[in-house]
Amino acid sequence: MRGEGLERYWQRAGGDRRRFVDEAFAGVAADYDRLVRLFSGGLDRRWRQRCIEACGVARGGWVLDCATGTGALAVAAAEQAGVTGRVLGLDTCGPMLAEARRKASRIEARLAWVQAEVERLPLRSETVSTVTLGLGLRHMDVKGALGEMCRVLAPGGRLALLEFLRPPPGVVPRVALAYLRWLVPPLAGLAALSGAAWTLAAYLPRTIEAAPTVPDLVEVVENAGLRVLLIKSLFAHVVWLVVAMKPLRRLTSEGER
Ligand SMILES: C[S@@+](CC[C@H](N)C(=O)[O-])C[C@H]1O[C@@H](n2cnc3c(N)ncnc32)[C@H](O)[C@@H]1O
Repeated sequence: MRGEGLERYWQRAGGDRRRFVDEAFAGVAADYDRLVRLFSGGLDRRWRQRCIEACGVARGGWVLDCATGTGALAVAAAEQAGVTGRVLGLDTCGPMLAEARRKASRIEARLAWVQAEVERLPLRSETVSTVTLGLGLRHMDVKGALGEMCRVLAPGGRLALLEFLRPPPGVVPRVALAYLRWLVPPLAGLAALSGAAWTLAAYLPRTIEAAPTVPDLVEVVENAGLRVLLIKSLFAHVVWLVVAMKPLRRLTSEGER
């Protein structure tokens, strides 16, 4: 990810991006769901539903939701996976996970939470049937994260990335970015009555400008060893859904051994 314009935010945490991101999300955890719902005009729920549908979470499936935040995607996956399913939500930010735990207490499916980095997943290789990641890839080392998510996916398993990506040129994406850059930060600050919400909302559009483009991301996904199945713009060529599959292993013939 290109980091121009982002370093001055990281300076607030001694130049440490991980710490800045953790502190920023910790500061808005209690208001996160409300703010996202408000500023996406309620579309966020639909984006997550599309994401879960597109990766075909099966009844009884084993799902890992990376950068789970307050657990919205994990809960949607758990509803799909049913009581025999297993869903693990993973995030680095304790207060976001605390919100997720609260939300999930109503859900029957086997949901668990872990505080860890996507770039260092605490899971064995080739064990997970579905991996999801919503709106968090811009905050991490994209290649490292893709490598790890591919490592834990079982052959035939699917990965779904729901993400704000750097859009192609055009009036519609430019209007969407202007909305995120100039209107959302002060309104988020007012809505949450918090400087933390303003800071995070001001940081987010800059991460979109520094994010991979769709072709960049597809290249990283394929280099990680996955086959891309679906690329879809969900909003203004800024919010994208990318679904990929880990190929099944070829049966080795005697001659290939
Ligand atoms: C915008 S929130 C997205 C939450 C949720 N997936 C959703 O769809 O609303 C981004 C989340 O990514 C988490 N995060 C950022 N970098 C991470 C990393 N390297 N490993 C794990 N989680 C990370 C943050 O703590 C934050 O909770």
